[in-house]
Amino acid sequence: MSSREDNESNFIESSESLFEVAQQAVVLPVHEEEDSNLLRKLDQTTNGLIEDLKRSGEFAGKKGEVINLFTPRGLKSKRLILVGLGKKNEVDPGVLRENLEIAFRKIKKRLNQGIACYCGPEIGLNGVAPLECAIESAIAAVYDPGHYKTTKTNHKNGSKLVLLTSGASSRKSAISRAIILGEANQVARRFAFEPGNKLNPMEFSNQAREVAEKADLKCEVLHQDKLESLGMEALVAVAQGSKNSARMLVLHHESSDPRAPVLLVGKGVTFDSGGISLKPAPSMEEMKGDKAGASAVLGAMTAISRLKIDRNVKAVIPLVENLPGGGAQRPGDVVRSYSSKTIEIINTDAEGRLILADSISWAKERFKPDCIVDIATLTGACMVALGRVRAGYFANSEELSQKLEAAALKSGEKLWRLPLDPEYREDLLSDIADIKNLGGRWGGAVTAAKFLQEFVEDTPWCHIDMAGKDFFPKGNDLVGATGFGAMLLTCLAEELV
Ligand code: BES
Ligand code: ZN
Ligand code: ZN
Repeated sequence: MSSREDNESNFIESSESLFEVAQQAVVLPVHEEEDSNLLRKLDQTTNGLIEDLKRSGEFAGKKGEVINLFTPRGLKSKRLILVGLGKKNEVDPGVLRENLEIAFRKIKKRLNQGIACYCGPEIGLNGVAPLECAIESAIAAVYDPGHYKTTKTNHKNGSKLVLLTSGASSRKSAISRAIILGEANQVARRFAFEPGNKLNPMEFSNQAREVAEKADLKCEVLHQDKLESLGMEALVAVAQGSKNSARMLVLHHESSDPRAPVLLVGKGVTFDSGGISLKPAPSMEEMKGDKAGASAVLGAMTAISRLKIDRNVKAVIPLVENLPGGGAQRPGDVVRSYSSKTIEIINTDAEGRLILADSISWAKERFKPDCIVDIATLTGACMVALGRVRAGYFANSEELSQKLEAAALKSGEKLWRLPLDPEYREDLLSDIADIKNLGGRWGGAVTAAKFLQEFVEDTPWCHIDMAGKDFFPKGNDLVGATGFGAMLLTCLAEELV
């Protein structure tokens, strides 16, 4: 998997107006039902073009609308691209990023020849947020999820962006921060979207190691026999149905901060067939995305390191493939987890919690973390509860919960808190072991979280269930993995400094 490094010199801040700037294109985000001074001026300059577009219903500023106007009158750039953002009071960094990416993709051929993007206050986001979003989107727009097609598009990759901040000059560090965040999102997207045969646990750990070391992270890879001898029976049980053996990737970001580290854990099931509790065929191919949590943690760690965040951060990424081979675990099996708690396996498709449980117990013992954040495509039930707009999260600590909420607002990746009442724990009682890996019919996202809590114990902890946020929904203007979580976890690390 090729990765690319974006050069800071490709992103230039300018106080030019969108009338003065002379580029291949100038991109202007527009709100629905909103008239700004800038838009009125643009209407005058272009001889009423904006009003015409609105009246004819050609462009109303709705989300997802993009219109490309060639050689607009009164502008020095070759094209004026209007991008709909929807209602102004509903704009957040996520909305801005997504719609800018849609627009940038439409003019991808021009992206490396230089385009300008309006990043001023009219967008309705504070400070450097529009500039950061524009850079992140331009980086995202270059990603081509069709890289296994044999007929390649032959235009040059890369993006050159002039950021029109209308004189409200931002810190130069905003540009480099945005590049780092955009590239972290890229890492997450690329890893999450790779096919299961291309990125099995071994390949994931090899390629992740390369990416991590390039970002100056210290890196360890534990092989399955090591995990077995350490006593991670729950994790290894999941891997046993596949010829591709398990790995555990451990990443270290070191700073001079004396506090105990923050621990990040990401679910890395490189393909989830369900195992003996086999999943139905429709959409099973999407289960290559069951490594999206792992991919998010990897992406975040590269950013945390490159931003030199002043906090020690450890990442533990368990990697397994869940297949129904001859060595596979069966429903009814009992395994002894690393914590020495015994688990009755009811459903082999509830595998994520098994690998996370052992990872959490082991990392707790080894790193004695100050707090733990795990992220996983854990339950279809979470998708049933929240749809594909927000990821669910659970927290046993108000303080950590608040930091995570703050990070989510900053990164524009939406979360919704779900409960952890003790009553839900009763669904996990087993007749023959300490706990079983499947709850009852209801509240599946919660019982999965309760299962994890059993291994977290009292350490401050958040669990993010990002099932449904791994890929853009079918029929969306954007395709492939979203990279959800990479920027969020980076912002969280910043909150924890
Ligand atoms: N990887 C799946 C969860 C999932 C579903 C992720 C849809 C992304 C999209 C997970 O391992 C799983 O299979 N969960 C089961 C749990 C059940 C057996 C308790 C589920 O959600 O059905
Ligand atoms: Zn599963
Ligand atoms: Zn899974």
